[in-house]
Amino acid sequence: MSGLNIVFAASEAAPLAKTGGLADVAGALPAALARLGHAVTVIMPFYRQPVAASQVPVRPLGQSISIWMDGAERIAPLHEATVGPVRFILVEQDDFYDRDGLYGPPGGAWEDNLPRFLFFNRVALEAARSMKRPVDILHCHDWQTGLMPLLLATQYRHHPELAATRSVFTIHNLAYQGVFPAGWIGRLGLPEAGFHFRGYEFYGQINCMKAGIAACDALTTVSQTYAREILTPEYGCGLEGFLADHADKLTGIVNGLDESWNPAADAAIPARYAPGRMAGKARCKAALQSELDLARAEDVPLLVMVSRLAEQKGVDLLLDRAPAWLERGWQLAVLGSGEPAWEAMLARLAEARSRQMHFFRGFNEPLARRFYAGGDIFLMPSRFEPCGLSQLMAMRYGTPPVVRETGGLADTVVSHARSRTSSTGFSFSEPTPEAFDAAVSEAVAVWKRPATWRRIRARAMRRDSSWDASARRYAELYEGLVARA
Ligand code: ADP
Ligand code: GLC
Repeated sequence: MSGLNIVFAASEAAPLAKTGGLADVAGALPAALARLGHAVTVIMPFYRQPVAASQVPVRPLGQSISIWMDGAERIAPLHEATVGPVRFILVEQDDFYDRDGLYGPPGGAWEDNLPRFLFFNRVALEAARSMKRPVDILHCHDWQTGLMPLLLATQYRHHPELAATRSVFTIHNLAYQGVFPAGWIGRLGLPEAGFHFRGYEFYGQINCMKAGIAACDALTTVSQTYAREILTPEYGCGLEGFLADHADKLTGIVNGLDESWNPAADAAIPARYAPGRMAGKARCKAALQSELDLARAEDVPLLVMVSRLAEQKGVDLLLDRAPAWLERGWQLAVLGSGEPAWEAMLARLAEARSRQMHFFRGFNEPLARRFYAGGDIFLMPSRFEPCGLSQLMAMRYGTPPVVRETGGLADTVVSHARSRTSSTGFSFSEPTPEAFDAAVSEAVAVWKRPATWRRIRARAMRRDSSWDASARRYAELYEGLVARA
C-alpha cells in the first residue's frame, strides 16, 4: 500500500511545546511514521511562548478557520512549521493559548479548559477537511483531543472529505480524563445523543476521555502492561468496566525515543560518550556536581530524578527515604516542577544539605539532559506509569534506573534481581518506602562493583528504544483500519 495521509491532533508536541512524555511521542512518532513512507501532519494549539523558545521557524499558512462557539464567532488563523519530515499546523487563538501554562497555572487547571480544547478540536477537524489529500487516519491523544473521535463520528460524518477517515485514540494517562459540568453541552453544541453511560456521560458530567474511548475506531495505550492494568479497579480510574466493553479494540504499543537522545551526539551535555568510550560520562558527573554546587566526589553515588512532581511519580516515597540516603553520604539531585507542596518539601530538604542534595525547580530540557548524563542511578518510583520515557532516556545515557514494576516501567527495564545477565536496571514491586529503599540500596551496592556496573550500564545503553518497531505496529494498525473501511 502506498503511504497513508495521517493527521495527529495533540495538545503538546516536541520540540514546539512540552510538559511531559506526550510531547515526546507526538513529536517523534510522526517522524518515524514518515520514515516508513507515510505523510504526517501534527495539529496543535499555538502556544506562543514555548514555540518561540523552541526557535523553530513558524510561518502563517494564509488560511483561517471560523468556528461558532458559545454564542460567538471565533476566527483561528493557522500557522505552519516543519521539523524534519513532519509538518506542524498551529492553531492561533491567543486568549486561549497564549498563557503561562499549557493546561493551567502551577499545580492547577484553567477554568475554561473545555472550550479551549473543544475549539482546538473543531479547528483541527476543519483543517483536516480542507487538506488537499483526504485524511486516512486521525490519531488523537489523551482527553484534550477525546471529543474529536466523537465529533468525527457524529457532526462531521456527513462531510464527504472526512467520510473515509478512521480515528485512533491513544490513552497516555487515564488519571486525567477531562471531566466538566454537563451545562456546557448546550452552550458548546456538543452532540446530545452521545451523553449517556455508554457514551461520554460520567456521573452526570462530561468526560472527554470517555468520548474518545467510545467513539474511536481503534484504541491504544502506551505499553502492554498498562493496557492490562487499566482494566483493573486500581488503575482504571473508574473507567475499568467501560474499558472492558471496548477491550476488543484496545492494544498496547510501547513508546520509543527519538534520535536526539544520544549521549554520543548531544550538544547539551559537557562531554560525549558511547558504550566502550565512557570517559565522557565521568566528566558529565563531575560537571553536574559543579553546576549544582554538590561536593565534587567520584566515589559517592549521585542519584538523580527528572520528573513532573505529581502523585503518580511517587515523590512521597522519595521524600520519605531521601533523609536516610543523605545520612549515608549519598548525593541526590532532583529536577522537576508541579505540586507546590512537594516543591517546598524538596527545597527544604536540599537547603539543609546543599553540598549533598540539589533541587532544581522548573522545566529545563538541556538541564534534564545533563541530569540523565551526569547521574549514576536514575530514580523513578512511579505509583503507576503508562509507559514512561525518562527511564528510556536514563538507560540510553548509561544511568541505570530504579523503577517500580508497573506499566511501561515493567515492560522496558530488566531488573537485576530477575536476571544478572540481561539486567538494565533495578526494580521493586510494592509502592512502599521500604521496598524503594531496598531497591536503591541494591543499586548502590552493585554500583560499588565496577565490573558488574559496567556491564549493566552497557546493556542499558544498547537497549533498542528506537521508534522503529513501535511505529511499524501503529502503521499496521492504521492499514488494518483503512483496509476494513
Ligand atoms: P510523563 O509524561 O508522565 O511526565 P514520561 O517519563 O513519559 O512522563 O515523560 C517525561 C518527559 O518530560 C521526559 O522527556 C522528561 O525528560 C521530561 N521532563 C519531566 N520533567 C522535566 C523537567 N522538570 N525539566 C525537563 N524535562 C522534564
Ligand atoms: C503520559 C504518561 C507517561 C507516558 C507519556 C507518553 O504522560 O504518564 O507514562 O510515557 O504519557 O505516552
